[in-house]
Amino acid sequence: MSKHATPDHPIHDLIVARWSPYVFDPKPVEREKLLACLEAARWAASSYNEQPWSFIIASREDEAAFNTMLGCLVEANQGWAQAAGVLLITTIGRTFSRNGSPNRAAEHDLGLAVGNLSLQATQLGLHVHEMAGIDLDKTREVYAIPGNTDPWTAIALGYVGDPASAPDLAPRDTAPRTRKALGEFVFAGEFGKSAV
Ligand SMILES: Cc1cc2nc3c(=O)[nH]c(=O)nc-3n(C[C@H](O)[C@H](O)[C@H](O)COP(=O)(O)O)c2cc1C
Repeated sequence: MSKHATPDHPIHDLIVARWSPYVFDPKPVEREKLLACLEAARWAASSYNEQPWSFIIASREDEAAFNTMLGCLVEANQGWAQAAGVLLITTIGRTFSRNGSPNRAAEHDLGLAVGNLSLQATQLGLHVHEMAGIDLDKTREVYAIPGNTDPWTAIALGYVGDPASAPDLAPRDTAPRTRKALGEFVFAGEFGKSAV
């Protein structure tokens, strides 16, 4: 199953191929591939090179750890993410280690790291589905996340499944992908004034 982007301008093949499936094949992800995805995240740019991200991982081979992390997702996400090969919780450090001042770019930098991770996953034949839908209080408690660090999102990583194997989820994976036109978010001169 593939669900390629339909770009208006030529872009990299990996960006075209990346998409977020709901139907995963409950097949383990090879350790080397998981580490390669995390390595890609590691090399993301970040403000002052703070690297404010952390990833807590749980592979499906470790059933107890996997189920514990699954239990930190909102119910709607648990339904489909239970078939992923690996679950990850992302966190961000709130302050710069160099001087303790607030890091306004932390969310931005986590996004860059996860973007790298997603494209590396795509290159390895894997798929990523990110989730804002997690129980933040529970996640903090379960993983003893300290006060200057915030749990932020979760990620399902794994092999894409056959939509026919999950008829309830299939319509989401077979629906066309949509995007705003460039002119709706690329401005010049004034916010809202289209540049293209
Ligand atoms: C930060 C973030 C949070 C998201 N949260 C959820 C979520 O909680 N549940 C869900 O089903 N999809 C979630 N998504 C997936 C988006 O709905 C999906 O990326 C978007 O519809 C675009 O589809 P595509 O990734 O296939 O291009 C999230 C994506 C991102 C980047």
